[in-house]
Amino acid sequence: MLGTGSCLPERVLTNAELEQMVETSDEWITARTGIRTRRIAGENEQNYQLASRAALQALEAASVSAQDIGLIIVATISPHMLMPSCACFVQTELGATKAFAFDLNAACSGFLYALDVARKYVAADPAMKVLVIGSETLSARVDWEDRNTCILFGDGAGACVVGGADGRGIVDSCLKTDGSLWNLLCMDSPASRNPDLIIPESKGCFIQMAGRDVFKYAVRAMEEVVCELLRRQQLSISDIALIIPHQANIRILDNLTERLGAQPSQIFCNVDKYGNTSAASIPIALDEAVREGRLHRGDKLLLCSFGGGFTWGSMLLDW
Ligand code: ACO
Repeated sequence: MLGTGSCLPERVLTNAELEQMVETSDEWITARTGIRTRRIAGENEQNYQLASRAALQALEAASVSAQDIGLIIVATISPHMLMPSCACFVQTELGATKAFAFDLNAACSGFLYALDVARKYVAADPAMKVLVIGSETLSARVDWEDRNTCILFGDGAGACVVGGADGRGIVDSCLKTDGSLWNLLCMDSPASRNPDLIIPESKGCFIQMAGRDVFKYAVRAMEEVVCELLRRQQLSISDIALIIPHQANIRILDNLTERLGAQPSQIFCNVDKYGNTSAASIPIALDEAVREGRLHRGDKLLLCSFGGGFTWGSMLLDW
């Protein structure tokens, strides 16, 4: 991994503001989720615009020009259009004319899946540089009258440049899917945000979730893939300098920490600030960890995720 970047919308939505919108309380949200604020995209903060700004930061950090990028993958479940892909808009925004580009939908695991695709491209062609982005504007996909879901999600984007033999630093990954449980966490096909095309009667296509079931599966599934990867690499949890899990909910992270026998200091957490940003959560957290100096050369970094599908996975990196 050659460089990272991120971009968050300016608008901060607090729990106190949510108290004015649905029957909830700051106390309930904080105790059940750990979330205190989330960011909401506004004007000039479409998904591809957040993605492009995060990508520019990652290119700068990697000292790589847009012209050197061979492939752009945007992991997202909230593109502003279904066609062309968000990645096509990013390509033209960056002027990355030599890159081919596509979106990848694996919900909250999208960034890990995309990193794994990137790793395999650069393993086949070590000269290739891949821009991997996780970007979401979930505020457009949330029913703001549904207190079960609207308190959880936020908008933002994170990005990284992958290049060099084996994606430089990406050691191994363990990715899983179980499509039979799709109905526990899903979102119907999105309506267009083009005002001329919106169906007046439609309430929109919103995230629906069986919270308790998702919670249960998420903790077990992430534990399973982390342990499988550690076993395969003959490592123990104490060998890992930093774990960056998908930022869904503080109680999921606490449960996972306990099950893995990890120290709280090994787990990166920023869910209090941004809520659940789905495919963007890991790359935003990764960029923050890098900029805060939490990662040092040679550190073992572990990423893990769980999301709609169900999709889940883990990835080990030598930093
Ligand atoms: N404010 C106040 N009360 C609420 C709210 C709210 N925002 N939302 C639900 N409640 C009420 C419910 O109506 C219910 O009331 P009742 O007992 O009168 O019926 C009560 O609180 C308990 O509801 P539960 O859904 O059982 O609450 P739970 O403790 O399970 O917490 C939560 C809900 C936070 C969603 C939890 O299930 C959870 O964290 N699930 C994980 C889901 C998740 O993080 N999903 C993100 C997407 S998936 C992913 O990224 C991994």
